[in-house]
Amino acid sequence: MEKKRHTFSSGIGFVLAAAGSAVGLGNLWRFPYLAAKYGGGMFLLIYIILVFTFGYTLMIAENAIGRKSGKSSLDAFAALKKKWGFVGIIATLIPCIILPYYNVIGGWIIRYFFEYFNGFMSDISCAFWNLAPVGESGFGAHMAAGGEYFTNMLGSAPTLIIVQSIFTIIVAVVLLMGVQKGVEKASTILMPVLILLAVIICIYSITLPGAIEGVKYFFIPKAENFSIMGVLAAMGQMFYSLSLAMGIMIAYGSYIPKDSSIEKNVGRIELFDTLIAVMAGLMIIPAVFAFDPTQISKSGPGLMFVVLPQVFDSMPLSNLMGMLFFFLVFAAAITSAISLMETIVACVCDHTGLGRKTSVIIVALLTLAISTLPALGYNVLSGVKFFDRFDILDFMDFITNSVMMPICSLLICLFVSFGIGTKAIEDEVEIYGAFRRKKLFRIMIKYVAPIFVLAVLVSSVLNSFGIITM
Ligand code: PHE
Repeated sequence: MEKKRHTFSSGIGFVLAAAGSAVGLGNLWRFPYLAAKYGGGMFLLIYIILVFTFGYTLMIAENAIGRKSGKSSLDAFAALKKKWGFVGIIATLIPCIILPYYNVIGGWIIRYFFEYFNGFMSDISCAFWNLAPVGESGFGAHMAAGGEYFTNMLGSAPTLIIVQSIFTIIVAVVLLMGVQKGVEKASTILMPVLILLAVIICIYSITLPGAIEGVKYFFIPKAENFSIMGVLAAMGQMFYSLSLAMGIMIAYGSYIPKDSSIEKNVGRIELFDTLIAVMAGLMIIPAVFAFDPTQISKSGPGLMFVVLPQVFDSMPLSNLMGMLFFFLVFAAAITSAISLMETIVACVCDHTGLGRKTSVIIVALLTLAISTLPALGYNVLSGVKFFDRFDILDFMDFITNSVMMPICSLLICLFVSFGIGTKAIEDEVEIYGAFRRKKLFRIMIKYVAPIFVLAVLVSSVLNSFGIITM
């Protein structure tokens, strides 16, 4: 029996849900360290160009494919053109690899939240009992010596496994309770608070002594900082941050009502997502310059966890700020993780005939099992390195963002050009509202995007195997 598909009650419901998926660790954790690593202003420039040309094109295409087919990623392609069904399989595989390591980072956030929470509680009890102030013992003090706390945390396998399990279980419980109302409401309240707090932290970070060099590094592109690896990283980050090239926007597209403008909604999501990423960069990069500029060239996944505690430590009410901040990052991460797990659960439900509850439990257990690998990659399995440079978590991140997502996006472009024709997408977009950047869309999806992805992909793979050096 064909079930009627729910649609969002309004365009704004879709924008909120899509923004909830898009804004997450990608903006707050991943963007700043990539920007720091790949040349600051140059990375930012490439990223912004990519988002508003390539990202725009792909998001329009995915939303339209979703709305036209009324199906989620796994079946949408086959529903529109039987032969192309395999693209759905590749698209759906990607969230299955991302979710396990996303949860590991989610676990780090939980750990940091509790660390600040404890500090905050002891601040309160000191104030209450009039004991000596905690002052020096602020959490950031542990961080001063090159992120000792962070390194110690990664060294402890049991800690990591416990915190990431907590994160995974929370996501699973939300899915079991039903996502819609609670999550939508929570994000409408939490997102503005996150932005406010981010503005405060940005101002703080920018005004630290020495920070202005970081602001320059982040905003002024320098030609010598250009690299193909940087372009590839920016492209991967664009897919990741906008939740593209993995079927999520297809699933969301299938929920967009016919009387809502796809083009307008896409524009809003991109702008919002990019603003948050830029703010995250401004919170973190200037602070790196203020505390220890040498960190810039070494920056990696730990950047946010090492630098921000130092910023908080130099602020008044440091424990309160830290606690609030990590709570909000947690909230942003949860909404994204939910969209990841939901995509997988929906596929399992549709294709195995298992009930939703059972599917959630199976997916959660599998995720828990798989996510021990990236967690152990920092301690027990620290000897395992891919291409001499990637830890397990880094590698899962690289293989999805920089290899599978480009391939998937290339296939989506080809599907649109040769499978259903650009006109099918254009018509779908024009069902309601204008399609103002139609020409850009057509040129991008037919020519620029596929050639560009192919070129970048090939050069990066050759580079990884040492056949060419970039
Ligand atoms: N876009 C999310 C973020 O920026 C991450 C995400 C990736 C969510 C893939 C869903 C799918 O954190």
